Amino acid sequence: MAEVKLEDIVSLAKRRGFIFPGSEVYGGLSGTWDYGPLGVELKKNIMNLWWKMFVDDADDMLGVDAAILMNKKVWEASGHTATFTDPLVECSNCHGRFRADKLDDPNKCPSCGKTGTFGEARAFNMMFKTNVGPVDDEASVSYLRPETAQGIFTNFKNVVDTFYPDVPFGIAQQGKAFRNEISPRDFVFRSREFEQMEIEYFVHPDHWQPLFEEWVKRIHLWCDALGLPADKVHELEVPDEDRAHYSKRTIDFEYDFPIGREELLGLAYRTDFDLQNIQRASGKNMEYRPKDGSAPFVPHVIEPSFGVERALMAVLSAAYTEDKVNGEKRIFLKLPAHLAPVKVAVLPLVKNKPELVEKARDVYQVLKKEFGNVMWVDTGNIGKNYRKMDEIGVPYCVTVDFDTLEGDTADTVTVRHRDTTQQERVKISELSHTLL
Ligand code: GAP
Repeated sequence: MAEVKLEDIVSLAKRRGFIFPGSEVYGGLSGTWDYGPLGVELKKNIMNLWWKMFVDDADDMLGVDAAILMNKKVWEASGHTATFTDPLVECSNCHGRFRADKLDDPNKCPSCGKTGTFGEARAFNMMFKTNVGPVDDEASVSYLRPETAQGIFTNFKNVVDTFYPDVPFGIAQQGKAFRNEISPRDFVFRSREFEQMEIEYFVHPDHWQPLFEEWVKRIHLWCDALGLPADKVHELEVPDEDRAHYSKRTIDFEYDFPIGREELLGLAYRTDFDLQNIQRASGKNMEYRPKDGSAPFVPHVIEPSFGVERALMAVLSAAYTEDKVNGEKRIFLKLPAHLAPVKVAVLPLVKNKPELVEKARDVYQVLKKEFGNVMWVDTGNIGKNYRKMDEIGVPYCVTVDFDTLEGDTADTVTVRHRDTTQQERVKISELSHTLL
């Protein structure tokens, strides 16, 4: 099979209503993307799967949903105000601004092509600044959060005081994060507004190593659940000089995207960096008191941090498949059924036979109750409809035809399987067992 190209995925995502450029009708807004009817389903399926795997199915995890706007002291204490920067260079000829460490040629402007027009790189802070309230002054300054993590750290004490969980335990959060990326690029891969799913896993400082290894395993299970081929997921032990300011050990989990091998998610050992900073800046005690009466301590933290857009882009890249059916090229999304935005499509063979349409409606209603997102498809010819359903990754098409109405085949339908295009005749009463 040919290598999947990013433009194939972008084109399918737009054509079939997964993802559109943000503010497109007004010419767009760089680094922003809007999710269409299928994109929002796929994104929710990924986020719900994550919540189920890491929160609902675990017995050492609690959830929070903190405000996006936070007191600016949060970002001063966390180090983001001072150090959450990327190196920026400006071309003295065309005044284009670029991220210095992402240039193909560090001396050549990618916009006007001139060489030697860049001065010294300066540190550009990526946080979006805003003012809270009607007064536009220093005191009202706030930021859109650049990571969801701080909403967890600032609620550590609240969660401990209300639930008193045993260490080790984790606090999980999903939600929007914002970064004023100098060069947003590669579809949703590097956006200015994106979604994170993060866990701060609080541990005793003496026990972080085996628990860190445990998290490596849990992350591979997550990648499996997304349907990512194991040989395309790689662990990169991040060297000292490249690690974030708060981390003593980081593994980047990389994926072989169509744009090359790039970071999918990260796993960091953040030590007690954040809780100590909060303790110092707020004056509130962040110590944890074990129930067995042993000495109190400020917990250390292991942080698995997942980007939703990158997960979604990896899922689409892994699922995008081209083959030939009856000598014709076919494009289909081989999505795992539990992630597919539409689980089943119901297709009445004709529109002008009321009993057939009525029968198909009954089947549709029953399946909808059982599988949730079921699509009703009654325009166009059956072959073309199968291809459309293939392109949006519907695992099963159920066709109601003349044989459904009478004879030996009464009350049976055709079930067509997306990946093989094989068709089988199934009794309506047995559909639930056959599908999913
Ligand atoms: N709390 C730790 C943290 O935010 P990070 O490596 O900066 O760590 C974590 O971000 C994950 O968030 C990344 O692995 C990636 O999946 C996602 N991410 C970061 N910046 C992104 C961007 N501009 N667009 C899309 N996803 C992004």
